[in-house]
Amino acid sequence: MSYEIRKIIKLVEEANIKINTTNNINKLNEIRLQYFGNKGKLTLQLKNISKLKSYDKPIIGEAINKTKKNLYKKFNFHKNLLQKERIKKKLAKEKIDVTLPGRGGQNIGNFHPITRTLYRIKNLFFNLGYKLVDGPEIEDDFHNFEALNMPRNHPARAMHDTFYFNENYMLRSHTSSILIRIMEKKNPPLSIIGAGKVYRCDADINHSPMFHQVEGLLVDECVSFSDLKGTIEIFINCFFEGQKIEVRFRPSYFPFTEPSAEVDIRMKPYSDWLEVIGCGMIHPKILKRLKINTKYSGFAFGMGVERLTMLRYGVKDLRTLFKNDIRILRQF
Ligand code: DAH
Repeated sequence: MSYEIRKIIKLVEEANIKINTTNNINKLNEIRLQYFGNKGKLTLQLKNISKLKSYDKPIIGEAINKTKKNLYKKFNFHKNLLQKERIKKKLAKEKIDVTLPGRGGQNIGNFHPITRTLYRIKNLFFNLGYKLVDGPEIEDDFHNFEALNMPRNHPARAMHDTFYFNENYMLRSHTSSILIRIMEKKNPPLSIIGAGKVYRCDADINHSPMFHQVEGLLVDECVSFSDLKGTIEIFINCFFEGQKIEVRFRPSYFPFTEPSAEVDIRMKPYSDWLEVIGCGMIHPKILKRLKINTKYSGFAFGMGVERLTMLRYGVKDLRTLFKNDIRILRQF
């Protein structure tokens, strides 16, 4: 074996040992340069070929090339291995346990007082057998007014400072429109409640341009005003459970009910009377237009959720309910 070949074998063995014992990518690169760089040991060996006797050249040249290829493979293999290990180590070090509690401690959220009141009202009516229905917040003139016995230019429209999109469309000014839509589709007997946001151009300590209403309707055979009275009284007593409440029905006017009443309450020890619910027997004209059999009659009622929330929690200014000040909300 020529001296050159022995020298190559020695270099390769040397390089192999270095590669195998390195566990650092940067060092591996250094080793690569030591052997394959411009002045690398194997590179120089290759350059020396030209000085060899011509019959040794092809054998030694081939041997060097083969070795070079094999060593290169080995480098890459080892490099890959080290890279994988590096990633594995990094992942292990940077692992986070997403189930650990946050640093600032945990704050438990709760429902907004208006949402709580809405749930409370709905649940009380569910217990009386009412079903929940829904309707659109963008309403047409027919369902918001006309079908409720308020044709255009009807003076009662002035009670609602309505937000109009155009002549025919508006933000619903009350949830009564929901009931009309259901009565158009479903036959009696019906006992339903609709709840949601309503809009009126009004803002002071007792009014907000957006507020919530819950509306109820019962249509069945032989429904009378005393059924309405009993239902409302039960509701109010359950809603203000534990508080001494006096309830009174005061004659009033709504275009879609006849007779109509407003329900006032006062808490003992006596405060002022506060109006909380509008109600009445569904106007015969409405039942007739909907072609509801004359054996049926019904009552309807509507209430403001904010007003009931303020009374229940003793909130003096309605606007505090919409400020969403976390310090206030935490108190409920
Ligand atoms: N829609 C009325 C309003 O917003 C409230 C109301 C009164 C609803 C009487 C009713 C009702 O269902 O019977 O002022």
